[in-house]
Amino acid sequence: MTTAPGTRPRHPAFASLATYPFVRLDEAKTAARAKGIRVLDFTIGDPHEETPKRIRERLLNSVPARSSYPPAAGTPALRASIAGWCARRFGVQLDPEMHVLPSNGSKEAVYLIHQAVIDPHGDRRVVLIPDPAYPVYEIATRFAGGEPVPVRLEPRLGFLPDLDALPVDLLRRTALMWINYPNNPTGALADEPFYRRAVALARKHGFWLASDEAYSEIWFDTPPPGALSCGLENLLVFNTLSKRSAMTGYRSGFIAGDPEMIHLLRKVRPSQGVATPTFVMEAAIEAWGDEAHVADQRRIYREKRDVLLPVLQRKGIELGGSEATFYLYFRVPGGGSSEAFAAGLLEHGVGVVPANYFGAGGEGWIRMALVPTRAECEEAAGILDRVL
Ligand SMILES: Cc1ncc(COP(=O)(O)O)c(C=O)c1O
Repeated sequence: MTTAPGTRPRHPAFASLATYPFVRLDEAKTAARAKGIRVLDFTIGDPHEETPKRIRERLLNSVPARSSYPPAAGTPALRASIAGWCARRFGVQLDPEMHVLPSNGSKEAVYLIHQAVIDPHGDRRVVLIPDPAYPVYEIATRFAGGEPVPVRLEPRLGFLPDLDALPVDLLRRTALMWINYPNNPTGALADEPFYRRAVALARKHGFWLASDEAYSEIWFDTPPPGALSCGLENLLVFNTLSKRSAMTGYRSGFIAGDPEMIHLLRKVRPSQGVATPTFVMEAAIEAWGDEAHVADQRRIYREKRDVLLPVLQRKGIELGGSEATFYLYFRVPGGGSSEAFAAGLLEHGVGVVPANYFGAGGEGWIRMALVPTRAECEEAAGILDRVL
């Protein structure tokens, strides 16, 4: 059926969605499977681990006999539980009413913030987006009428943006800057001085700093710092239960930071139809209140990493980042294109992401998400050993 021209979507941002590269990746995996290839799938960062039993039980026990609309700003108990976690983890005292807003996964809040901070007709429309990066920042910027400006993450700078190199006239036109550490896709870490400098820059030039900390709990050495310890002014921090508690399907995260923006978002959220079901909020309270299961998740990722990392090292492949998160990030051996390498590996049954899918800065690199089972990781290690 063809659509009459007048009823086609009109927003110009749809044009950029048409080429969303992950669709190509799905097609390539489907084509490989159709040829009889068993694909070990290291592409999408969706944990295959079970959600811990106590969290599932809390959800089941919280399903009410009579269901009513949940509060869009989350229950007071959930906001208090998130503030408590932030205090234990980062040593910051947040007011659950003024500084915290639960969200349906962090993606909902990541998307929403662009609507709040960009005036599509104003002269502060720039969103500084790391390159490579999680693709939602750019899509959300375009739909909010903003101007995405990529900021390269160079291996020689530890995949941190060169804050000193950002021109002042650009910073004056900037509404929002994204940083994301531990980083997707590179697995790189940021230290406290970096956070302090980024927050200071935002305050100096009057833009919002958005720190996406979705992977803050997936670390292998010491717990990485977060931006919350730099004070809340001009700062918004995003976090989620998806990765730390293997709860991608629950859709539960939060935004915390500057009370002015939290107040605005809290006002607009009831109109958006995104309130979290109360039983999911109860499960979230259980998850934020327990660290033992998170330590288990880290152990599982460490074991898988210990299976695959030595193969890459033995082959002399250049690793970038890969210090935290469940991503391994490496340069295409021999210097070919990301897409050609990923397509070749898929023929051998190992699915990885060409990192140019995260932006031009990822060209020549590969991201491998350690989400399949340990047995599958061992199988993949055998394949990589043979074919690289
Ligand atoms: C960097 C980053 N931020 C945010 C998210 C969103 O996670 P969720 O919406 O499940 O909380 C993801 C998911 O993959 C991510 O990689």
